[in-house]
Amino acid sequence: MLLRLGLLSLLTLSPSLAAPHQGSFPGVDSPHRSSRNNKLLLISFDGFRWDYDRDVDTPHLDAMGRDGVRAAYVTPPYLTITSPTHFTLLTGRYIENHGVIHNIWFNTTTQEKKQYYMTQFVDSYWDNGSLPIWITAQRQGLKAGSLHFPGTAATYKGERVKVSQVEPRFYEHNNETDWRINIDKVIGQWFSKEDLDFVSLYFGEPDGTGHKYGPESPERQEMVQQVDRTVGYIRDTTRNHGLSDRLNIIITADHGMTTVLRNGLVDEIILSEIPGFDFRDIKFQLVDYGPTGMLLPREGMLEKVYQALKGGHPHLHVYKKEDMPGRLHYSNHPRLLPLILFADQGYVINGFFPVQFNKGEHGYDNQMMDMKPFFRAAGPDFQKNLAVGPFETVNVYPLMCHLLGIKPEVNDGSLEVTRQMLVPKKDQGSYENRDIQWEVFIGLTSVAGILALVFVVTTAHAMLKRTHMDRRSEVTHEDLNEKESDKQTSF
Ligand SMILES: *[C@@H]1O[C@H](CO)[C@@H](O)[C@H](O)[C@H]1NC(C)=O
Ligand SMILES: *[C@@H]1O[C@H](CO)[C@@H](O)[C@H](O)[C@H]1NC(C)=O
Ligand SMILES: *[C@@H]1O[C@H](CO)[C@@H](O)[C@H](O)[C@H]1NC(C)=O
Ligand SMILES: [Zn+2]
Repeated sequence: MLLRLGLLSLLTLSPSLAAPHQGSFPGVDSPHRSSRNNKLLLISFDGFRWDYDRDVDTPHLDAMGRDGVRAAYVTPPYLTITSPTHFTLLTGRYIENHGVIHNIWFNTTTQEKKQYYMTQFVDSYWDNGSLPIWITAQRQGLKAGSLHFPGTAATYKGERVKVSQVEPRFYEHNNETDWRINIDKVIGQWFSKEDLDFVSLYFGEPDGTGHKYGPESPERQEMVQQVDRTVGYIRDTTRNHGLSDRLNIIITADHGMTTVLRNGLVDEIILSEIPGFDFRDIKFQLVDYGPTGMLLPREGMLEKVYQALKGGHPHLHVYKKEDMPGRLHYSNHPRLLPLILFADQGYVINGFFPVQFNKGEHGYDNQMMDMKPFFRAAGPDFQKNLAVGPFETVNVYPLMCHLLGIKPEVNDGSLEVTRQMLVPKKDQGSYENRDIQWEVFIGLTSVAGILALVFVVTTAHAMLKRTHMDRRSEVTHEDLNEKESDKQTSF
């Protein structure tokens, strides 16, 4: 009877076996945390195109490739700009699913726009239904940190990444001394002293240099050498703190970069010069932002504006939001405006007249090779000297969750895409197994509890009886028989 009760409680105590649960793991001090996963550092070098190491000596990146895994390239989500693509790395969701649709926050009613930096502090913009990996890791008992990574400053469902350094307002993104100070902080302080499990670390280069001088310039090549020295510094610092066999490092980027064609070489796209197009038909516009634009036409003007722009320039594409090609996953979100514009390689979209002077741009179709970032990974859980084919960056999130041993949120990626990069192992510490370990722990605890209870009850019973018998002082046959039958039914 007791035993049956015990089995029953064992079964009812196993909610996650019956129904999969999300983000509800027992806390840091739960016993199953003793089988710890390796730590993970995610690094983004903004705008590091997949082939930037081909025309520059990059000894440290090459060494990392030999010690780990390198992908031919990776494919970012569309729109290929900084905040949206970084949030895909952190959530594994396409942009239409996570809602961070642009670097610029805007309000079509008030006409207000916030640029990249100020948008970082608009919580409701980032917290639009997808949780970044920091929060998921923290909810499952891990310690997470972030330095300068897009999305770091925001609060998600009332929670922020616990350890963080937010970029100062007018930050010099190319200062190598400052990079090293930040690396010392992340590795020497956060991972070593504070024992963090996961950190995301962001560098604003070679994006800045690529924009300013163009991706084919000697300045960009020099910046790639600075990045390479930095990769060497990161790996040396890791070694000096004795973390090499406990820290996995992923290095990637948000998008690539391509050369802008202008100076009379091409017929530039200037919307106000397109016949039939009139800015007075537009209620709100987001143009002059590289090769991409979005328009909200005034009431009843959508068809007129659409027809004017369609065929208005041979290198301009215009789509009604709902007609955007499905492969771009940039259609189904209320923040997207009714008309979406994008330009062919090398072109940018100007409103009234050319106001953009960058020599390099991104934001183009993610199929374009120049928009593809690089990807390297090394550490105890990665294969050595392995080259793999390209994959979409939505798949980085499930890989990171697997490495950290946490249960991922709903996402658009798959671990199957990257599993080949990993050293095959008994796989203990993955969230699937942690789940089972937790079940076994609960099960054993229940059984032990029940056994203890039964022991207490029978011992008490036997002692009571003995006292009773002692008081009677003579042992009869009947009593002995009773005792005998007691023994048989106890267990
Ligand atoms: C835009 O501003 C209007 C008017 O102040 C406000 O009602 C609306 O909620 C705002 N929308 C967003 C997304 O902030
Ligand atoms: C995401 O943002 C849109 C528009 O700003 C809003 O309508 C929607 O309710 C938000 N969704 C969530 C889950 O926050
Ligand atoms: C670079 O950063 C270091 C450390 O923050 C600072 O001391 C130095 O003045 C900076 N150099 C430049 C050129 O801004
Ligand atoms: Zn970027």
